[in-house]
Amino acid sequence: MDIFTTIKERRSCRKFLSDPVSEDAIEKILNAAVWAPSAANNQPWEFIVVTNNDIKKNIFSESEKCKKVLYEKSGWKWVDRYQVGFLEEAPVIIVVIGDPKKTGADMFLEGGGLAYQHACAAATQNMLLAAYALGLGTLWFTLFDKATMRKIFSIDAEKEPLALICLGKPATAFNPPPRKDVKEVTVYLR
Ligand SMILES: Cc1cc2nc3c(=O)[nH]c(=O)nc-3n(C[C@H](O)[C@H](O)[C@H](O)COP(=O)(O)O)c2cc1C
Repeated sequence: MDIFTTIKERRSCRKFLSDPVSEDAIEKILNAAVWAPSAANNQPWEFIVVTNNDIKKNIFSESEKCKKVLYEKSGWKWVDRYQVGFLEEAPVIIVVIGDPKKTGADMFLEGGGLAYQHACAAATQNMLLAAYALGLGTLWFTLFDKATMRKIFSIDAEKEPLALICLGKPATAFNPPPRKDVKEVTVYLR
């Protein structure tokens, strides 16, 4: 599959089959992650691969609690309707952890200190694309309480759980949500 097709056809998957994901596929996906760019090549990422059903159940029930808090705070109806069953369903969840100490020289600039998050996002996108190229579905999930995730995975206080990637065979096809036209979001200075 060529890179442009992979980029365009990858979709967020929120319904997974229970078929296990091979260790070979997981390794390929993690290898794609570590070839992402990072500020000063400081590679501020770590990953935890979860296939344990009890841990996934725990993530699911904690996310249900988090959803309630989000609904109380936002009052947004979609939050109330939003189902997070994919957290139990997905055969694999990859936890992406960032290290704020491993940010770049941007820390000395206004609004800086975020390069570690950018690098982890690049690693995450690499994983989504690699998984899609292998015929797998993914979801980049962030609606969780960081303190709770730190507790579940015994993550040091100075490190940050940044994303959960749900991974598995998609149970169905997903329609592409619309995108803004490039012309709307781009200015050429010639
Ligand atoms: C930083 C980031 C956080 C996201 N968090 C969530 C999330 O918590 N739950 C969810 O269902 N989707 C989440 N998504 C997926 C987006 O909803 C999705 O990418 C967007 O609607 C476009 O759809 P597509 O991925 O199929 O192109 C997240 C995506 C990004 C990049």
